[in-house]
Amino acid sequence: MKKLNFAIPLFCMLSCVQSNVPIYRNADASIEDRVEDLLSRMTLEEKILQMNQITLGANLNQNNVGDASVEPVLGSYITYTATDPSEINQLQKRAVEQTRLGIPILFGFDAIHGFRTVYPIPLAQACSWNPELVEKACSICARESRLSGIPWTFSPMVDIARDGRWGRCAEGYGEDPYTASVFCAASVRGYQGDDLSDSTKIAACIKHYIGYGASEAGRDYVPTEISRQTLWDTYMPPYQAGIEAGVASVMSSFNSINGIPASADPYLLTHVLKRQFNWDGMIVSDWDAVKQLVYQGAAADHAESAERAVNAGLDMDMADLCYYDHLAQLVKERKVSEKTINDSVRRILRLKFKLGLFEKPYPPVTTPEQRFTLPGDLDVVGQLAEESSVLLKNDGTLPLGLKPRKIALIGPMADNYWELIGSWGGHPLAEDIVTIKKAFSDGFGAQNILYAKGCDFDGEDKSGYDEAVAKARQADVIVLCLGERASWSGENGIRSTLALPAVQEQLAIELKKTGRPMVLLLNNGRPLELCRLEPLVDAIVELWQPGISGGKPAAGIVSGRVNPSGKLAITFPYSTGQIPIYYNRRRTSRPFMGFYQDIPSEPLYDFGYGLSYSSFEYGDIRQVGESPMVFEISVMNTGLVDGKETVHWFISDPVSTVTRPYKELKFFEKKLVPAGKTATFRFEIDPLRDLGYVDENGHRYVERGKYQILVKDKMVEIEL
Ligand code: BGC
Repeated sequence: MKKLNFAIPLFCMLSCVQSNVPIYRNADASIEDRVEDLLSRMTLEEKILQMNQITLGANLNQNNVGDASVEPVLGSYITYTATDPSEINQLQKRAVEQTRLGIPILFGFDAIHGFRTVYPIPLAQACSWNPELVEKACSICARESRLSGIPWTFSPMVDIARDGRWGRCAEGYGEDPYTASVFCAASVRGYQGDDLSDSTKIAACIKHYIGYGASEAGRDYVPTEISRQTLWDTYMPPYQAGIEAGVASVMSSFNSINGIPASADPYLLTHVLKRQFNWDGMIVSDWDAVKQLVYQGAAADHAESAERAVNAGLDMDMADLCYYDHLAQLVKERKVSEKTINDSVRRILRLKFKLGLFEKPYPPVTTPEQRFTLPGDLDVVGQLAEESSVLLKNDGTLPLGLKPRKIALIGPMADNYWELIGSWGGHPLAEDIVTIKKAFSDGFGAQNILYAKGCDFDGEDKSGYDEAVAKARQADVIVLCLGERASWSGENGIRSTLALPAVQEQLAIELKKTGRPMVLLLNNGRPLELCRLEPLVDAIVELWQPGISGGKPAAGIVSGRVNPSGKLAITFPYSTGQIPIYYNRRRTSRPFMGFYQDIPSEPLYDFGYGLSYSSFEYGDIRQVGESPMVFEISVMNTGLVDGKETVHWFISDPVSTVTRPYKELKFFEKKLVPAGKTATFRFEIDPLRDLGYVDENGHRYVERGKYQILVKDKMVEIEL
């Protein structure tokens, strides 16, 4: 246990006579004046305290266990358990009322996909192609978190992920830089709104900067090798979008890139973020990342870790107290300048002022009913869960309709609720989570549901197969609920294969023998290898980990109450051996060769794939404007039910100095198209933004020549 022993003189700010109120206490002064005034009053030790963050309790993935015994005088605390403002207020009171300058603590928490009202994991959110809905969900999360006393979330995660074995692909928006950029900006807007001092808004933190998702073989924490070109064209866009959306903070990542740990890289932290982007926000390390520079072989000891990180531009040290232990001495030895310290402290204080913490350090004490799951919240998260679900296969079995018939509801996911939440699950209440069994009983009538677990998520035990097969034989249709435990994805949730464990696949084989039509429902935090399951079943719905809505979207889609509209934001390979596989790979030297000998070379389900109960007929792409260049496409719903369709607009630059992917997503739009009606989708091109590319220093340019505009199999060519 660590005991901090800075002597803190007691000082009651409230006793100040009005005329002596320092500028930093004056809410009418500008934030920059307040920051400078406060900074000028701080001792070096007080500044260093602001640059540290510690953890209270264990985090939600149980990877990090913090030390709750330190004095509340540091810049920030992570609170993994607090959901009640009075818990926070007790700690805050000591910082605000019992320290010399009364600087409030910044509390943070990983509210990654909801605080109490938990919604689908980010990978699922991206499959909704509905950023407005994601923005609304994030604003619910912001309100619940802020009213609980926590004005900072470590979200959104915007790492591009192209290897599903890496469990953290669940936490981001998939494989495509543009998609991740749009959802990054939407969630930043949802969390932060226009004014961070609003009592229902929180500071966002984009993470993990940068290239963490390029992990080799899906292993977490490992080094990455990313060229400057790829860094800028693939990994940087969502960060840039977050910065443009005004994000308050960035978290540096654990990995090294080309041999330099991201948390100690002056190019990434200072040159790019602080200078090139001219961003005035705050950079926090990931958990223990400063200390881990020693494991990475980048520092001989923790003093050198602190020196490398702070000189690279890392403002706040999460958890390991390397800054706390060593910065004062490093300044004394002139290895770190006070100017560097000041730059970091300015950024930390600026955020605290922006959040209004000096004026309102204490959230109002409210009841859970006043903070959580207010009227309307469930509609938002429910709609998001519905729109995130992707219908992957349907031979006509779905929808079942509500006509009474017997449904054999089988599988380890069917009567489970915690696994539906996913990793970084926030603080949901068990009673708020609707299991698939409950949702099906409510929707189809309990008397029509024949439930059997069949088997567990993994292991060898097949003793439940017989009961499952017997129930299936009594039923008209089988709904098989397979998937992953929540802990199989998220941090450190690494798997060597995307296939579900054999005990689950074998259950499907046994059920197939009954001859009953079979619908497969999937709950998981990564793309799966479905090449063996797909031929066994008549329909597949990818539900991801939907949060507290649990089984409701599944029941809605199976019955037909909900028309599925999700499309994949990450490619489902045919099998794990195809990894890494993603739609936007650069052009190959022999496109007609280089295929696998033993498996198909195409993915099972491509990026952007997803079925509906409506059928959509696309017209040709029309250019309707020259300057600006505007394109339109008409989409007719030729089906019998209203449906939402997302049109993805890609571009292709067939000849360029730096070779580019076959196609790159540049815009998407989702619209409701009523049955029998036609909707028009538009794409207005900004040549530099949409046709141009970025060089290895992050500068955009556009080359003359031919470009293609692509929607599905439609294409038009233009010349610049
Ligand atoms: C994770 C971060 C998280 C942090 C704080 C780390 O282990 O990598 O994503 O924000 O812990 O909980």
